Amino acid sequence: MNQKGVILQGSSRSNGNTNTIALFVKEKTGFDIIDLKPKNIGPFEYDLKNKDDDFIPLFKEIVDKYDTLIFATPVYWYTMNGIMKNFMDRITDCLKTEKGIGRKLRGKKMGLISCGSDSELKEGFTMPFIESANYLGMSYLGDIHTWLENGVITSSLQHELYFFIEKKIQSSQLINKKQLAIKPL
Ligand SMILES: Cc1cc2nc3c(=O)[nH]c(=O)nc-3n(C[C@H](O)[C@H](O)[C@H](O)COP(=O)(O)O)c2cc1C
Repeated sequence: MNQKGVILQGSSRSNGNTNTIALFVKEKTGFDIIDLKPKNIGPFEYDLKNKDDDFIPLFKEIVDKYDTLIFATPVYWYTMNGIMKNFMDRITDCLKTEKGIGRKLRGKKMGLISCGSDSELKEGFTMPFIESANYLGMSYLGDIHTWLENGVITSSLQHELYFFIEKKIQSSQLINKKQLAIKPL
C-alpha cells in the first residue's frame, strides 16, 4: 500500500492562515498539499450534472496515490468552509456511480486540521469528519485545532503540531510499515 499522505486544503484563500499551517505540516511530514480553491468542483447534484468537473479525476488521483488524507479547513461560521463541504458532499458521487473509486477509501486514514481565529473550537466541529471516516471505512487518526497570532504559529502551538504529527500521523504510518514488513509464511 502507498504510504504517502496528502493535505487537502479547503480554504477560500490559497495563501491564507490554513495554508501557513498546511505548509508547516508539509515540511514535517513530506506530505503533498492539494489546494482545492483553484479546482473547479461544483456542489453535489442529484442528477450528477457536475460529474465532468475536476472532482472525479482529482479524487481518483487522491485514492490511487495516497494512504493518509489530512483535511485542512478554516473555521467559517463554526463549521468547515464551503469549498471543503462541497468536496465532502461530492464524495457521494463515488458512492453512486464511481463506486470503484469510493471503495478504495476503505482502510485509508483521515486526519483533521481546523484553523480558526483563536484557540476556541466549538464542540461538534469534528463530528462530520469522524462520522464520515466511520461511514467510509476509513480510520480516523485525530484532529488538531490551530490559529495564528500576528500571522505566526506560536511556539506552544508548534509543539502541539509536532505532537499531533508524531503521535497521530507518523505513528500510524510506522504501524503500517511494520505490518507490511511481516511476510506471510
Ligand atoms: C466567512 C468567515 C467566517 C468565519 N467564522 C469563524 C468562526 O465561526 N469561528 C472562528 O474561530 N473563526 C472564524 N473566522 C475566522 C477564520 O476562521 C480565521 O481567520 C482563519 O484563520 C482563516 O483561515 P484562512 O486564511 O485559511 O481562510 C471566519 C472567517 C470567515 C472569512
